[in-house]
Amino acid sequence: MTTLYTPRLTIRPLTPADLPALVVYRNDPEVARFQGWPLPSTLEQVQGLVSAAAAPLGAPGWVQRAVVDGDVLLGDVALNTQGQQAELGVTLARAAQGQGYAREAIQAVLGHAFGALQLHRVHAAIDPRNEAVARLLTRLGFRHEGIARLAYFHRGEWTDEARYGLLASEWTP
Ligand SMILES: CC(C)(COP(=O)(O)OP(=O)(O)OC[C@H]1O[C@@H](n2cnc3c(N)ncnc32)[C@H](O)[C@@H]1OP(=O)(O)O)[C@@H](O)C(=O)NCCC(=O)NCCS
Repeated sequence: MTTLYTPRLTIRPLTPADLPALVVYRNDPEVARFQGWPLPSTLEQVQGLVSAAAAPLGAPGWVQRAVVDGDVLLGDVALNTQGQQAELGVTLARAAQGQGYAREAIQAVLGHAFGALQLHRVHAAIDPRNEAVARLLTRLGFRHEGIARLAYFHRGEWTDEARYGLLASEWTP
């Protein structure tokens, strides 16, 4: 099980004790707006994230990690690894946003992905209206690669999906 450390954060497997706080931020409409999980989010629905968290980052499929500052769960990050490529996901509770925590956490995850895991490419698929994550990915060096039109069915409507990609050769530690 991988645990990563940054100056302010620990990025570690989710535990059952994290789930009540995780459900609270997942049910915040601002946080959930561009995310695909079912609403309302319940403890039963998120229990699987703990067993998925037991796998090491880089194991095939989605692996979730808690982003914590001391005892406080700020959010979560995830990698969906397929071979030498992975998709990235990130969520912060509203109170934890606007402080650079997502950038700090993802920079550590990318360091692990392109370092220890030797991945070739990491990408994110986002709703183009999600300006906060677009800014975050751009700051981290991801390139906007294009938009797949009405490619994602999200809470009753077809939405565009923007692709952002970062190659190992482009990444700056
Ligand atoms: C996507 C998401 C994680 C981005 O969070 P964020 O707080 O904007 O990103 P960061 O933690 O990197 O913080 C960056 C912001 O904090 C500011 N900031 C304040 N102190 C900072 C510091 N010490 N270091 C860096 N940035 C700092 C930056 O200026 C920046 O503000 P800006 O975006 O207005 O320019 C967040 O919006 C979220 O959880 N959204 C809901 C879930 C979601 O949609 N996820 C994406 C699906 S893939």
